[in-house]
Amino acid sequence: MAENMIPLKIAGIGYCVPETVVTNEDLTKLYETSDEWIYTRTGIKERRVVSGNETAVDLGLKAAQNAIEKSGIDVNDIDCIISAASVPPQLYPTLACTLQAKLGITKTIPAFDMTAACTGLIYALQVARGFIGAGIYKNILIVAADNNTKITNWEDRGTSILFGDGAGAMVVTPSDDGIDDILSIKISADGSIGQMIQTNMPSQCCPLVKQADEVGTGKIIMNGKDVYKFAVTTVPKYVEECIEASGKTAEEIDYLIPHQANQRIIEAIQNRLKYTDDKVISNIKYYGNTSAASIPIALVEGVEQGKIKLGSTAVLCGFGAGMTWGGAVVRLREGIC
Ligand code: COA
Repeated sequence: MAENMIPLKIAGIGYCVPETVVTNEDLTKLYETSDEWIYTRTGIKERRVVSGNETAVDLGLKAAQNAIEKSGIDVNDIDCIISAASVPPQLYPTLACTLQAKLGITKTIPAFDMTAACTGLIYALQVARGFIGAGIYKNILIVAADNNTKITNWEDRGTSILFGDGAGAMVVTPSDDGIDDILSIKISADGSIGQMIQTNMPSQCCPLVKQADEVGTGKIIMNGKDVYKFAVTTVPKYVEECIEASGKTAEEIDYLIPHQANQRIIEAIQNRLKYTDDKVISNIKYYGNTSAASIPIALVEGVEQGKIKLGSTAVLCGFGAGMTWGGAVVRLREGIC
């Protein structure tokens, strides 16, 4: 933490996943694949998907309400909302503004969407830390709500096996005891390799000028092999650097809570840190990749299932489209979820 920065407290965390489950077996109705193929390569057995009129707004709202309740902060004391969705249901009004209204916040506080794909939660935490640290805003709500299945190409068996929907939220405030819950945080990007995962939005030209030859489909296009190689080479090393920056050793940190993209990527990070299974939180089997929401979902569910004891420390790490990546070593106080 830079000198004179106000320390940050993680005050509440919440999550929400849709009820509807799509199993690997279900996907065999769409294309030639098998549970065995998907599970051995990814660790995924099933994922949750929104249905009917349900959207990231509904998921984000419930996650936010849970996080606010746990934080003990009155909803009208929130003074900034940052939404870190990869796939907001609308470009505008932004998800953050929509949630401000749905949460019943009557004050005119700033609310904005900030996209860093699957690294969104870590990016938003860094932005919130800057605001709190500089005394600009006090009680910040971060919402990572993703509707990946709305932009998945359901004809592409190489990508549609991976993604699911879900939301996570965090309330962060100035620390009341002088202890900073962020021991270290780092975010990075390399746009020169951004073509590894793309979603080109449908577009048009002014009818008076020549049309572009290619029109975006709005669906995810991914080179899975390249993403995999990027993740296993860049992320484990980066996580080590985040731990080093925290002034702790890997052994001194209680849990690894990584972005849930692929079980083999999680294991690559685990192996680098020489962590036993009980220190690594993985729930990819039941949710697939829920983008920026995956870390808070894994964290809160880990606490609910007794895998994470609060009053501990964890290293969080995210990576995804951009390409972006980030990591944070955090303190998990009692009662935050
Ligand atoms: N079921 C059965 N076969 C499949 C399949 C599926 N769902 N998807 C692809 N295949 C086939 C391919 O057609 C290919 O067949 P071919 O050799 O006859 O052409 C073969 O399996 C190998 O495909 P490939 O794409 O090379 O597989 P892979 O071993 O790289 O695994 C991923 C694919 C997507 C599981 C893997 O690359 C991955 O997880 N990458 C990381 C992606 C990621 O995490 N993205 C999000 C980051 S935030």
